[in-house]
Amino acid sequence: MNAKKFTAKFIVLDGPDGCGKTTQLGLLAEYLNKEGVEVVKAHDPGGTKIGDQIRHLLKYGAKGVMDVHTETMLFMASRAQLVAEVIKPAIEKGKTVLCDRFISSTCAYQGSSGYPLKKIIELGKFALGDVWPNLTIIIDIPTKEGLERTGRKPRQRSITNHKDANQSHLFENTTPDKFDSRSLGYHRKVRKGFFMLEKEYPGVVKIIDGGNASIEKVHEKIKQVIIETDF
Ligand code: TMP
Repeated sequence: MNAKKFTAKFIVLDGPDGCGKTTQLGLLAEYLNKEGVEVVKAHDPGGTKIGDQIRHLLKYGAKGVMDVHTETMLFMASRAQLVAEVIKPAIEKGKTVLCDRFISSTCAYQGSSGYPLKKIIELGKFALGDVWPNLTIIIDIPTKEGLERTGRKPRQRSITNHKDANQSHLFENTTPDKFDSRSLGYHRKVRKGFFMLEKEYPGVVKIIDGGNASIEKVHEKIKQVIIETDF
């Protein structure tokens, strides 16, 4: 493997809930380290003191229904801090940044709540300046399989008269936070949103199939992408 290819590169792993991106990010970091690449791991939202407070506000802290514009701005604010404190300095030192989620998630999730994709990308460019992922790998997974992996069980009964942003009782067996409690229909839309990124999102986007596959198999696919793709 050509370790130099990874100098000052920014790689994002993203995908629907339960796709296994966090596990895969750890494995990829280990693999790159062994190959002599200096890796910095990051997680969005959060990953800084200020970002963690925003993450908490997004997940548990907001009283009432948060407007999708507010939500989008808060995700972007947490990310701006992560870029300023962690991502940009690492790239400037020539390191390779591996980030768990990024603007691609805002496109898929807040895009599915009605915030236009093009506006999210514009807002991202304003908030983050010239820092943009060189490569975004989306791990696709069928919606139900992903949600089962997270340990959430969608209830059989449907809930009507709600906003997706405020469904707090759809899943059993977990302490529900705002993001756990969105409907199956919403998560299906999110999955489609990730597919749209191949055409609409700046930088190189690769989608790999993470459904019904072992952790090792998905890891091999990711290795293949990072070795064979120009980014
Ligand atoms: P996590 O559990 O992977 O850290 O992500 C928290 C939740 O936040 C997850 O359901 C996806 C959601 N999310 C958004 O809705 N928009 C975003 O921009 C990001 C980064 C995450």
